[in-house]
Parts: sequence; structure tokens; C-alpha cells
Amino acid sequence: MSYTRRRFVLAARPQGVPQPADFRLEEDQLPDLQDGEILIDNAFVSVDPGMRSRLSAASYAPVLGLGETVESAGVGRVRESRNPKFSPGQWVSGGFGWTDRVLSTGKGVLRLDPALYDGPVKPTAAIGILGIPGLTAYFGLIDLGSPKEGEILYVSSAAGTVGATAGQIGKILGLTVIGSAGGAEKCAYVKSLGFDHVIDRHQTPDLTAALRAAAPRGMDIYLDNVGGPAVDSAIANMRPKGRIVISGQISEYNRPEPVGIRNTLAFITHRLRMEGLVVFDYGAQFGEAQAKMAGWIRDGRLSFREDIVTGIENLPGAFAGLFSGDAIGRKLVAVSPA
Ligand SMILES: NC(=O)c1ccc[n+]([C@@H]2O[C@H](COP(=O)([O-])OP(=O)(O)OC[C@H]3O[C@@H](n4cnc5c(N)ncnc54)[C@H](OP(=O)(O)O)[C@@H]3O)[C@@H](O)[C@H]2O)c1
Repeated sequence: MSYTRRRFVLAARPQGVPQPADFRLEEDQLPDLQDGEILIDNAFVSVDPGMRSRLSAASYAPVLGLGETVESAGVGRVRESRNPKFSPGQWVSGGFGWTDRVLSTGKGVLRLDPALYDGPVKPTAAIGILGIPGLTAYFGLIDLGSPKEGEILYVSSAAGTVGATAGQIGKILGLTVIGSAGGAEKCAYVKSLGFDHVIDRHQTPDLTAALRAAAPRGMDIYLDNVGGPAVDSAIANMRPKGRIVISGQISEYNRPEPVGIRNTLAFITHRLRMEGLVVFDYGAQFGEAQAKMAGWIRDGRLSFREDIVTGIENLPGAFAGLFSGDAIGRKLVAVSPA
């Protein structure tokens, strides 16, 4: 039996914030399943800020070609299998892209372990808190941030998956945690996660002063999800030997030219360190980190929130909405193959 697939391809390179016309929904018939192959019904598709840079230029991965399926993480179920490693009904995840069906040899497709994905650890966690954003928070904070009990951590975009996860792990590790987010509802959510101080970036004309008020003796770690002027505000508030972890730069992704940082003298005077993270460098340790985070979720110390939009046709809008900050937590799109 052959199946219909819908997928979004890149139609044009976005100028600034991505627009619906930059993407095209196409429908085709998938070929019949061959020996060794599986057919996956994708259920949830991620929209990720970092994809924006790859629509215009190469990042640590090559630029996406016009006419190619937009890349993203997905989680779904095996519908048919002619591969002995997979059985129908099994939950799987992988880099499936903006599509509702995937025909695959199984390469790069992960079977979700039912012992791990149970109870509060829902299958969608595989592309959220236990997926790339959650792992970014985990390794960004624990490896590059080198936290010590009693230190002060600042996390930007604290209502997003990376930020919310990093802040909660910071609390588990005994840190004082400051978060910034956009708007009263997001700030209330961040506070409910146990952050010690929350700064509403929409109500804060002077972030440097707000950070100084929250941490008068300075901060030890900054996990940066936004880039731009926020980095300068953080640098101005770092304690000697402070660590700045560059996770994401969402305020820069739609700009033709980056803003850049200015307070570089403090790197000398305060012996600061700034380091960028590519989460895939930690691939060999993903399983260990996922087991640890799943344990924290089960014992109620780590939580996550999802914002699920329904309908494959809503993918471009859901993606564009990331840049206006319209979601709290992990934004996913539920797709239902015909
Ligand atoms: N290095 C890696 O390996 C890696 C891997 C995964 C993700 N990342 C990066 O980690 C960051 C967080 O990822 P996420 O998935 O959790 O996304 P996210 O933080 O939920 O990103 C969306 C949020 O960013 C904030 N935002 C949007 N435009 C902004 C602007 N101009 N200035 C300041 N904030 C802005 C908004 O939150 P507010 O309205 O609350 O401000 C928005 O809701 C992203 O930048 C992503 O690229 C890095």
C-alpha cells in the first residue's frame, strides 16, 4: 500500500522574520515499503529558533536548499515495518522535518524506551525537555557553566524550554537563579518554577540595572539564549571568573548584521570566560543525561510545559511566532497523516 505525505519545503530565503510565503506545502505519494524500511506516522513536529539561521546561511550544519524539506525534530509511531528492529505502534523520534509521514531505513531513528517514556515523561518529551533543548540546558549549565553550590545563575528566555530547564536544574544544584522573560504571564510561569528573581524584559528599559538589583554582588554564570544587548548587560554584572555560556542568539537570527558585544574589557578585568555550545558534541552522553532528567521529572523537581498548535498547515505561523514570543515552553505542531 502506498501512502500520501504532506511536507513543507523552503520556497524562498526569508528576509527578516520568516513569512508564510517562504514555505510551500507539497503533497506526494510515498513509494511502497521495501525490505529494511519503516513507515512512520509523524505525530508532533518541533519549531526551533535555531532553524532560522539555516534558512539563510550555513551554521554548524549546511544551509537548507530551496525545495528541501524544512528540518526539525519529530516524534511519531511506526505504522508499517519491514525492518526487524522496529514494530508497528512503536513510538520513535528523529530529525523527521516538517512532514506528516516518513519513509526511512531506520538510520537515525530512535525507538523511545517505554521504561523511560512513562507517566509524566510523555513521548513529546523526546523532542522537548529530553530532546535537543533540554539537553542544551543540561550540558550548557553543567559542563560549560561549571556551577558550584551557592553561585548565582542568570538565564535569558527563561520561559522557553532551554531557559526553564536550565533554571530548574540550577535550583536542583543549589544555585540562586535569575530569569528574564517577556510579559507577565511568562514571568509568573518562570516564578512558579522556583526561580528566585524574574525580570520582565518588556517592562525593563535598563536590563543592566535590573540584573544589578537582583544580584548586587554580581553573577557567576550567564546562560545566554538571546544574544545582542542582553550579553552586554550580563557582562557588566559578572563576578570575577564568571562563565558566559552562549546557547542561542534569537535576537540576532533575523538581523542582516549582528549587533555584537561592547563590554569586552570586563573579560580582562574580571577574568571572564565565554564559550559557545553545540549540543550534538555531547551525543555520547545524551542517554545518561536523559535518564537523570527523567528521574527529576518523576520526583517532581523538574517540569516542562508544551504549547501545541494543531494542523500541519500551521507550521510556518508557529515558527514565525517564536520570534514574537507567542509561546510558553516547548512549541510543537500536532500533525495527523491522512
Ligand atoms: N547551541 C545549541 O546546541 C542549541 C540547541 C538548541 C537550542 N539552542 C538555542 O537555545 C535558545 C532557546 O531555545 P528554545 O527552544 O528554548 O526557544 P525559546 O527560548 O522558547 O525561544 C523563543 C523565545 O525567545 C524569546 N525571544 C524571541 N525574540 C527575542 C528577542 N528579539 N530578544 C529576546 N528574546 C527573544 C521569546 O521569549 P520571551 O518573550 O519570554 O522573551 C520567545 O518566546 C534558542 O536561541 C536556540 O537557538 C541552542
